[in-house]
Formats: sequence, C-alpha cells, structure tokens
Amino acid sequence: MDNVIEDNKNIFLSLVKDNIKREGINTLIEYLQKTDFFVAPASTRYHSNCAGGLCKHSLNVFERLVKLLKMQYGEQWQQYFSLESATIVALFHDICKVDTYVVDTKNVKQNGVWVQVPYYTTQDKLPYGHGEKSVYILNGFIRLTREEAMCINWHMGEYDMRVKGGISLNDIYYKYPNAFLTHIADNMATFLDETIS
Ligand SMILES: [Fe+2]
Ligand SMILES: [Fe+2]
Repeated sequence: MDNVIEDNKNIFLSLVKDNIKREGINTLIEYLQKTDFFVAPASTRYHSNCAGGLCKHSLNVFERLVKLLKMQYGEQWQQYFSLESATIVALFHDICKVDTYVVDTKNVKQNGVWVQVPYYTTQDKLPYGHGEKSVYILNGFIRLTREEAMCINWHMGEYDMRVKGGISLNDIYYKYPNAFLTHIADNMATFLDETIS
C-alpha cells in the first residue's frame, strides 16, 4: 500500500474511532478491512478513478458535509445533525462500491503502436442498487437512524435511476434536508475536490 493510501486509511479509521460509538461499528470495520474499500477507486471513468479513490472520496464528502452543515446551521450544527451521524453518512455512503471494481486490460494505440493498458471495470456481485445497497450492507452491522438511512439512500439525487423512474426528490429533500446536504457534499467532493486520471 503506498503512503497516500495508508495515510487516508489512517485518517478514515481515526474519524471512525473518535466520532462513532454505535454498537456494531467494530464488526463493520473488521468487515471493511477484508474488502478492497481502502484500495478501490471511486469510479471507473469519472471522479477519483485511481487506487485508494473510494476512501479519499469518502473523506472529501465528510469535509464537505461538515462545512455545509456549519454553513446551514452555524457553529451549533450538531443540534441538527450529530457528528456521529455526519461521520456515518459521509464515510459509508458509497460502501455499496466495495468489491465491485476489477482491473482489466484494453488495447490502446500509442505512437502508432498497439499496447495493452490496464483499466478499471465493474463486476457487481450484488446488484442491489446504489444508495439502497449501502443502506442494506450497513444494516447488517449497525442500526442506522431513519435520517441517516435517508441521507445514504438518496445521496445520488437526480443521478439516481429511481428518480428518473418517477420518485419525487422534492418529497424526500423537504422532509429530510440533511439528505439534500449529503447529496450536495457528494457532488462538491466529486466535481470540485477530485479529478479524473
Ligand atoms: Fe454514490
Ligand atoms: Fe459518493
């Protein structure tokens, strides 16, 4: 594991240790350590499509979410969304992506010569969806509050296929404004903090 990946893993684990006291969290972390979570990319072709990208993206979402919560509610923001909830939602919103990325090779012409280059592709062994899959996995280890589940379930906002199928985001985000902030934090991390390699 290279240094940056190792550093991000340590930051992630200390945030969990300091901020989350929920029953089952240790088992969740033991599970996570057995998956590719800390070395997986965050996407195949889009943001943070590099080794360690998924962990880094989750940390970026945490930073963005805390900033947005402060902006919305002021310094007393934890009265509206606890630090534990913010940490759970941000760090685990994309847990659905564990063990879904595989490295394949493709032929690319470089300086007139065909060469084989590696690239990430996906093989989802549990095609349960996206936000709903994260909630499903987490529920096997820790009990989420209703609000945390809503934030994680709907973090993709307008990019969620279920929304394209007619589910109303208005309904969801008016009832759960912190789910809207989670979606914005995810977008800000993706488009402002992360790049495509
Ligand atoms: Fe996501
Ligand atoms: Fe995300």
